[in-house]
Amino acid sequence: MPTPIQILLIGAGELGAAFLPHLSALPNTHVSVGVRTPAKYQDLAPSNVSLIAMDITSPSTQLSQTFVEYDIVISATGFGQSPGSVTKLAKEVFTAGHLRSLMPFFGEQAEVRNLLRAEAEKSNVKWTIVSTGIFMSFLFEQFWGIVDHKSNPVPVLCSSPDRVVVRALRDWEQKVSVTDVADIGKVLTRVVAGDVEADNRIVYAAGDTVSYRELSEIVECVAGKEVKRVEWTIPHLEAELAKNPDDLINKYRLVFARDGVWWDKKGTVNHQLSIHTMNVEMYARELFAAQK
Ligand SMILES: NC(=O)c1ccc[n+]([C@@H]2O[C@H](COP(=O)([O-])OP(=O)(O)OC[C@H]3O[C@@H](n4cnc5c(N)ncnc54)[C@H](OP(=O)(O)O)[C@@H]3O)[C@@H](O)[C@H]2O)c1
Repeated sequence: MPTPIQILLIGAGELGAAFLPHLSALPNTHVSVGVRTPAKYQDLAPSNVSLIAMDITSPSTQLSQTFVEYDIVISATGFGQSPGSVTKLAKEVFTAGHLRSLMPFFGEQAEVRNLLRAEAEKSNVKWTIVSTGIFMSFLFEQFWGIVDHKSNPVPVLCSSPDRVVVRALRDWEQKVSVTDVADIGKVLTRVVAGDVEADNRIVYAAGDTVSYRELSEIVECVAGKEVKRVEWTIPHLEAELAKNPDDLINKYRLVFARDGVWWDKKGTVNHQLSIHTMNVEMYARELFAAQK
């Protein structure tokens, strides 16, 4: 029996937890999950997975020494890590060397991509950025503000009709790629298994790519509620950010509005490998059925 490939998965939140069933089922691999507080995750980890305590804000020398013990490092730490945390991680991986590093991002995140392209080969590190678009759950989260179940946009004197507000980032023709975390887990695991050419490149996943107009039509159709459509234009989003420059959510909204975070589904790993994925309509049907 060959020596098992050692995988370090950093983070076991919404994304990391969705990777575990797929990664831990790979033959001849052992998965360790690195989090700050392993005690929180005792029930989550399948029995063939180890939990280790680690903090990616620790000094770099310490982390590089940890990474040396692994063949593959996968980063799935939380939303809102300090700026530069992914760059720090990439540099520590270079110091450890002889590794494969996988990073799921919503988009391409130019600084990290350029660093990986410039430095990884010298350190004998192979890398893959898995661009996932927005998480399916995130697209429908109240705090993201795109599918807003709670606002009552029109003051109504005698009755309050049941409405959903759908907002477009930039305009109704802007598109967004969306992937459910379980499907990101399936795609990432096929990348780890070597089923697709992914060394030293960005690969794409998308359960769906929809315009905000299509999203509003899907919500209208499956929710059976009146949809109020509101455009969040780039000037509007810039003005909101100027009021609160540290608001991470507004910063991300501007990225989705300005640059667009979308790609054609035909160019994705899930399409290439015929992986069955959840689309926006399927997710919305489940979500709104659960709310009835
Ligand atoms: N595309 C999208 O729509 C979207 C949406 C949300 C997030 N994301 C990205 O997806 C990734 C994961 O997000 P998530 O929603 O799964 O995050 P999450 O649910 O907040 O989970 C974060 C995980 O990382 C661990 N963690 C946090 N800080 C850490 C540290 N300093 N050192 C080691 N482990 C740490 C946490 O465990 P402990 O607390 O025990 O350390 C937890 O297991 C992030 O890169 C995030 O930016 C993308």
